[in-house]
Amino acid sequence: MHNPIPVNTPLLDGNEKKYLIECIESGWISSEGPYVSRFEEKFAASAGRKFGIAVSNGSVALDAAIVALGIKAGDEVILPTFTIISCAAAIVRVGAIPVVVDSDPVTWNMDVNQIEEKITPHTKAIMVVHIYGLPVDMDPVLALANKYGLKLIEDAAEMHGQTYNGRPCGSFGELSTFSFYPNKHITTGEGGMIVTDDPALAEKCRSLRNLCFQAKKRFIHEEIGWNFRFTNLQAALGLAQLENLDAHVQRKRAMGAKYTALLKDIPDIQLPLVKTSYADNIYWVFGIVLGDSYGVDADEIARRLTARKIGTRPFFWPMHEQPVFQKMGLFKETRCPLAERIAHRGFYVPSGLALTEAEMEAVAVGLKESLK
Ligand SMILES: Cc1ncc(COP(=O)(O)O)c(C=O)c1O
Repeated sequence: MHNPIPVNTPLLDGNEKKYLIECIESGWISSEGPYVSRFEEKFAASAGRKFGIAVSNGSVALDAAIVALGIKAGDEVILPTFTIISCAAAIVRVGAIPVVVDSDPVTWNMDVNQIEEKITPHTKAIMVVHIYGLPVDMDPVLALANKYGLKLIEDAAEMHGQTYNGRPCGSFGELSTFSFYPNKHITTGEGGMIVTDDPALAEKCRSLRNLCFQAKKRFIHEEIGWNFRFTNLQAALGLAQLENLDAHVQRKRAMGAKYTALLKDIPDIQLPLVKTSYADNIYWVFGIVLGDSYGVDADEIARRLTARKIGTRPFFWPMHEQPVFQKMGLFKETRCPLAERIAHRGFYVPSGLALTEAEMEAVAVGLKESLK
């Protein structure tokens, strides 16, 4: 029997230690330290943007984005139902209404063909979320945002280093957001970033991040912000990780190819799509959806994998099926059969950057046994 294989282990094999020691030796550990703006500039440039605003995590990046764009009570925001709660939570927290779109069964991203029918006079924005390694098909979304004058928020939390038709993910939204949680292609432990080309929006996000202190009269407030600041220690990690982003993406693609080869003969399971016409998968996680011939669901397979000491996580649970939103009276008539299906039948296997080839082989053996 093999050692436990965690669902994620980050790869910290660059200048992380060196830069962290520099922080400690210099005494710069808070958000005032010099690495923060350096990381913001370099990361924003890597996503093809002018400004980066580093924040505490990818969830609060969405909160700040929603507020910065002026989305308010009664406004509707269209987003995929198949995503993390952070997306809908940011909308609901300002009293706006999340309007969900079902999934594309092949890419697991939002089905962009369903967006237009959801647009009403109250729609203010579309929040696209790139899921698991392939980008959303952006051209139709951009066309709709343009046609109806809607704001675009791009949640690129899982998409560092990915491109859509050669253009970086994170370069599409008026505000685009990232996460640096340890399962991401680059990590800062916890952390997130908002990127934009608009100087006024950048300034607004900076202010929201820092309690809306004012430059002249620091403790007199015109607005309410948060403390979503990002430390010099996080930025030190981020800079070191960013130096290796290309290598990390390459490694993830090699892992995706290896898993695909190891698992391709298992009957009636859906593996991540290797590529679309607009992008090659970067395998944020390696997801698997069980076909209907399996008499068990993803929860049961997760139990079996856990018994074999193989880390796993379920797929996202759709927003329209979240008890917390149903209790709020949201999504009463909403059905999204494709997202419901992948939520019940989808899970992912260990996908961290430090995963070894031997571990992937052990995962494949364990998965085959678990599916018998
Ligand atoms: C699509 C998406 N958005 C937002 C987040 C939230 O990021 P964080 O965990 O940094 O708050 C995640 C986290 O995995 C995510 O996958």
